[in-house]
Amino acid sequence: MKILVTGGAGFIGSAFVRLVVAETAWEVINLDKLTYAGNLENLAAVEASDRYRFVHGDIAESAAVDALVAEAKPDAIVHFAAESHVDRSILSPEPVIRTNLLGTFRLLEAARLNHVPRFLHVSTDEVYGSLPAPEEATEKFPLQPSSPYSASKAGSDMLALSYFVTFRLPVVVTRASNNYGPYQFPEKLIPLMIANAFEDRPLPVYGDGMQVRDWLYVDDHCRGILAVLDKGRAGEVYNIGGNRSLPNLEVVRKLLALAGKPESLIQYVKDRPGHDRRYALSSEKVLRETGWRPRVDFETGLARTIEWYRANAPWVARVRSGEYRNYYERNYANRV
Ligand code: NAD
Ligand code: TYD
Repeated sequence: MKILVTGGAGFIGSAFVRLVVAETAWEVINLDKLTYAGNLENLAAVEASDRYRFVHGDIAESAAVDALVAEAKPDAIVHFAAESHVDRSILSPEPVIRTNLLGTFRLLEAARLNHVPRFLHVSTDEVYGSLPAPEEATEKFPLQPSSPYSASKAGSDMLALSYFVTFRLPVVVTRASNNYGPYQFPEKLIPLMIANAFEDRPLPVYGDGMQVRDWLYVDDHCRGILAVLDKGRAGEVYNIGGNRSLPNLEVVRKLLALAGKPESLIQYVKDRPGHDRRYALSSEKVLRETGWRPRVDFETGLARTIEWYRANAPWVARVRSGEYRNYYERNYANRV
């Protein structure tokens, strides 16, 4: 089996590549543009493997995508590449639309023209929008995205599914809840708060901090993707949730306790525009059809994640230099 992974230098994609190289005999090709979020250091564990190959390229460039898919003839494409952050999509929507919509389209076209036997499109629970408690989104829920990011993911999900209906391309879509774990870029809630806490800097909680997210350890997500790649039915959507809903404030308090830092570091700041109040997923279908369920409970995963960031301070320092400083200034300076 040979798979083409897109976005394999990012947070979840690199965890998936490391898992596949470690636990299967498959060949993996990783197509990644190396944006601010892509980092080849995340792949140090696999770079010496003769079953792994990196290709530097942009999924929105049809010539590069077509040539690679035609030459590699993968048995499956697992599509992670995206502009993945809501706050950045509010500050600069254009790259989000280009990569998430046009890039997904280019890949689908290349897969269709080259008869790729499997296309797994990695998506998010954010496409369902904000849900009142105690509702949980099943795969049949209407899509009501709120941000340019979630709207671009909803659009790319629909496009991918249309390729099954119209062209019989064997597409499956996964929609996961909020991931956390090692190697996550410190723009997202958990790694940003860990990095700030280590330096005794303020932890910027948006609004009242009572927004609810469902937390999924990254390796559990990757195993869920493998389960759907193996057993998912073409044309179907599979939710992959962590089964652990928590208000942001509770996440931040747990994190401070584990890091041994005081709650006085919490700083309430201006809310995110269009901020979704609550995400919640039903993962009953993926359990029923593939047997997958999350293994890592939140407290264990969070402690593991904090220890990883503590042990990998040079990684954090490198990804927080340069471009990150400009982003931090743009996103947070006007919030306090
Ligand atoms: P990430 O931002 O850490 O990594 C994205 C990767 O894609 C980077 O390596 C980047 O270089 C690459 N990339 C970006 N634009 C590209 C382009 N035009 N061509 C080629 N490569 C490009 O993202 P992540 O958090 O690992 O998310 C991966 C996928 O999972 C995304 O599709 C995201 O929507 C989805 N997802 C993420 C979460 C989460 O909590 N992070 C939850 C559910 C779903
Ligand atoms: P984030 O990690 O950006 O993921 P998403 O917006 O895709 O869910 O944010 C998770 C939650 O944490 C979300 O409700 C926004 C909130 N948040 C803060 O309160 N402060 C922050 O600095 C960040 C980055 C997020």
